[in-house]
Amino acid sequence: MSESGHEHGLSRRGFVTGVVGLLGSIIAAIIGIPAIGYLISPALKRQSQDDWVPLGQVDTLPEGEPKLFTFTRTQKVGWERTANTYGVYVIRHASGELEVFSNICTHLSCRVTWNEAESQFICPCHDGRFAKDGSIISGPQPRPLDRFEYQVEDGTLMIHIVEV
Ligand code: FES
Repeated sequence: MSESGHEHGLSRRGFVTGVVGLLGSIIAAIIGIPAIGYLISPALKRQSQDDWVPLGQVDTLPEGEPKLFTFTRTQKVGWERTANTYGVYVIRHASGELEVFSNICTHLSCRVTWNEAESQFICPCHDGRFAKDGSIISGPQPRPLDRFEYQVEDGTLMIHIVEV
């Protein structure tokens, strides 16, 4: 009796220990999983990747000459913040039509600048040259200057930014 009772007592103690351990694990999971999710969820979230950015009043743009706009946007991916600086050339034609170019060279992403004397966009890195309409004049660049989609709302020029 004492031997079997001792074995029975140990087994009961083991059972209780096991149940307490199991309950502890369940409670830890109930509390811990949402807490872990709360902590790591920003790392899994991506901020909105596209946006419409106002550049200015269309009627203040010079006619026929590229005007440079620059602005910086902060993109948040998880815990990391990245600042992206944009350069945008806008040309307003006499007809009212607009052309909106990125100032990023399509070769290796240097910044082109408008050269008034030569009436060209010139890339300082490998002497890539683009015409006023963004087309290629000469250089290693594989395609014309990229254009932004735009719209005019209440006289304000808005461009569509897509961040990757
Ligand atoms: S980066 Fe512009 S020509 Fe190479």
